[in-house]
Amino acid sequence: MAIIAPSLLAADFLKLEREIEMFHNSEADWLHLDVMDGRFVPNISFGLPVIESLRKATNKTFDVHLMILEPEKYAEEFKKAGADILTVHMEACVHLHRNVQQIKSLGMKAGVALNPHTPVSTLEDILHEIDMVCLMSVNPGFGGQSFIPHTYKKIKELRRLIDERGLNVEIEIDGGVTVENAGLLINAGASVLVAGNTVFRSKNPAETISRLKSI
Ligand code: DX5
Ligand code: ZN
Repeated sequence: MAIIAPSLLAADFLKLEREIEMFHNSEADWLHLDVMDGRFVPNISFGLPVIESLRKATNKTFDVHLMILEPEKYAEEFKKAGADILTVHMEACVHLHRNVQQIKSLGMKAGVALNPHTPVSTLEDILHEIDMVCLMSVNPGFGGQSFIPHTYKKIKELRRLIDERGLNVEIEIDGGVTVENAGLLINAGASVLVAGNTVFRSKNPAETISRLKSI
């Protein structure tokens, strides 16, 4: 059974209170929060004040995915806003080891995200320091894109790297996750599934979460 993390990016922002209540009362485990800066990715989403407000509505895990340059400038603020897991992009961090240490010293779990073109092998010397790898299965910046099938190979390779070392690192898949491909992703070795459009644009989001949870 995978951890299910609905992505708020696909929610109806006019009805955020209802959306977070649905999430809280559903079988979802984590809320995935996509923060974009218009520099690392060609889009701007939402930021600290939104996360801080949502924090009052649920005690479930906040999985914050930073698609921003210089994440070290904001890590402490995200902790204060309520982030439990803070994920930074390998491609955005010149001093990734330092970024990871900072996140952990602030009392958050540390995640590292890889763009579709970044090889899993680049994680070899950081894997033992982190709690999660987020494999991007679309190019980051937008919800509702289609899943890149090459991701399956990356999941299997990463699962092997983690197991060989006897580590306990979550493998999160982000982008284009559907009820149809969820089983294949879990079989390949994924442990966390992010789902934006699949959940929030479905007729009954809570039921869709249950379906994903039961796969
Ligand atoms: C993309 C974001 C994803 C996005 C996923 O940049 O990181 O988390 O919300 O959306 P779906 O599930 O709709 O592809
Ligand atoms: Zn994301």
